Amino acid sequence: TGAVQAPTETDGPLVVAHRGASAYAPENTLAAIDKARDMGFRWVENDVQRTKDGELVIMHDDNLKRTTNVEEVFPDRAPWKVADFTAAEIAKLDAGSWFDAKYAGTRVPTLEQYMNRVEQNHQKLVLEVKKPELYPGIEQDTLRVLEKTGWLDRKHVKSKLVWQSFSEESMRKVHALRPDIKKGFLGTPSVAELPEYATFVDQINARHTTISHGYVAAIQAMRGPHGKPLEIFTWTVDEAADARRAAGYGVNGIISNKPDVVRSAVGNE
Ligand code: G3P
Ligand code: CA
Repeated sequence: TGAVQAPTETDGPLVVAHRGASAYAPENTLAAIDKARDMGFRWVENDVQRTKDGELVIMHDDNLKRTTNVEEVFPDRAPWKVADFTAAEIAKLDAGSWFDAKYAGTRVPTLEQYMNRVEQNHQKLVLEVKKPELYPGIEQDTLRVLEKTGWLDRKHVKSKLVWQSFSEESMRKVHALRPDIKKGFLGTPSVAELPEYATFVDQINARHTTISHGYVAAIQAMRGPHGKPLEIFTWTVDEAADARRAAGYGVNGIISNKPDVVRSAVGNE
């Protein structure tokens, strides 16, 4: 009687720290997921690209310029594409100073390092494979790292991992390879197209400005490939009013650079 119930993940939308807590620490680094952990967020999102020598690294852009000091370290290597650098070269770059001098020396993590840290932090992951059309076979490469780091065991696949992509083809491929992994399609297919998407993804992860109450209801009325209701994680929501609107539609998750703003707006972790 009178006991206050701790909020659970079923009380409202999950809050996912986009590229880590990327408003407060350099995006897609270990510092950004540690920051999310310290703020109390269990779910994080990241982006994956592939190096010249086939290593998977955590980076949003297919170009190293915006989030590292690559131009300084390798001045004659324009246009500085991730795919033109080896993992050893990328490991020399500073991925923190551009954000704040106090993050100087922060590195670009490999996917393997990243998965190990997510695990250590007891976090869960929305993993995005970026531009798979640039990197043939990146789905299998990603699966190999997930296997090696223990992320394909039953416990992880069941409740700790969502794999998402803007590429329908790539999502179909992952579904064929590993139907048990939860998958999200990034985009806003029409309601008429939803039944087809529901054959290979479990989530439709749409930009928040493209959704409505009716659209969210249409998604959740469908059953995904495993017979469970289709879900929606919406992005990228950094304003309290937008978070309240999305939560009012009943979305399953909200992906945010400012997860604390979303948490105080919708009252969930
Ligand atoms: O998680 C959704 C969101 O990350 C998709 O857009 O460009 O930030 O990767 P982007
Ligand atoms: Ca992303």
